[in-house]
Amino acid sequence: MGNPDASIRLALWGIGRVGRSFLRLLQEPAISPTALPGLPLEIVGIADSQTALLLEDQRNLGPIIERKESTGRLEIPPGSALAVAEWREWLSQARPDVLVDTSVADFESAQPAWELYRVALGSGVAVITANKPPLVHDLKGLIRLAARRGTWLRCGATVGAALPAWAFLDLLSRQEKICRMDVVLNGTTNWMLNEMESRGIGYGEALAEAQRLGYAEPDPTRDVQGLDTAAKLLILANGFWEETFFWSDIEITGITGLTHESLQSERDRGYAVKLVGRLAGEQGHRRLSVKPECLDAAHPLAALAGSQKGIYIETTTGGRYALTGGASGPGPTAASMLRELREWIEMKKRGDAEHRPW
Ligand code: HSE
Repeated sequence: MGNPDASIRLALWGIGRVGRSFLRLLQEPAISPTALPGLPLEIVGIADSQTALLLEDQRNLGPIIERKESTGRLEIPPGSALAVAEWREWLSQARPDVLVDTSVADFESAQPAWELYRVALGSGVAVITANKPPLVHDLKGLIRLAARRGTWLRCGATVGAALPAWAFLDLLSRQEKICRMDVVLNGTTNWMLNEMESRGIGYGEALAEAQRLGYAEPDPTRDVQGLDTAAKLLILANGFWEETFFWSDIEITGITGLTHESLQSERDRGYAVKLVGRLAGEQGHRRLSVKPECLDAAHPLAALAGSQKGIYIETTTGGRYALTGGASGPGPTAASMLRELREWIEMKKRGDAEHRPW
């Protein structure tokens, strides 16, 4: 973006429900970054796991999305887009200013997303992502690479979708030293626990309903075993604490052993059972855990209803802060990514650098 009047070139990796919502939001005149003076936006490439396209004419975007929705395939409208063989070629030919990733990488390998980000950030391309595995793999390395190359990585959609937990920590970490963080960031398990406790339904029935409602991951074991919460906790920890934390540092217990009787008996004693991710302790002795916890009514996350999420922070000056609410689903997730895109555009306009305490 050397020329401030040049259009912003955006490449979209992943064209599932979040990716399509993101493209739809971009076309909403009221919130489109194209409405920012002097900053038109151009989608220069779209890719899914099978196909990588370079877009030569923006008018073909609509037909490409419609076709993807009806056939499930990313196809080339004749004479309007060019398919390339693999992601390196796609990235180098698309020459984006910003890469938006709405795909879901494999948790074991985190590929190809992690390598894609390394190449993009390494050549000064900003990355905005909703994809957790590459960040679980090495978020600190990616943030440091972005800072070295004078660019930017944002991943708020990975840690609570619409709930701006990342932005909340970003703000507070500039203001105070954080000594404890509690998170309830898995909508599926929060919904299941609430329903089991209030309606007295069993674990299996609650899980089946959560899947029907679309809260759960394609493989819900990541939700109920606490792995999704652990991934979000690790991303926040490595995003805002000086130390580097690893997956093996987290003590993880899911909700699979809980019954509606046990939840109701805790309720009768005045406690709400939540799947809590926690970071606590002094530097060098920090503890990270994910486990069902009995929260008393005074805890700001005790009253989280339905599939709501929340984050609670304590600071060394005695500050207590909580952010709760948010909606799950592709629309709110895409909206949070669009906000990050606007922030990056505004930051570039001001010529600001990325802030990190380490
Ligand atoms: N399955 C997750 C949840 C959404 O229930 O919160 C993706 O992180």
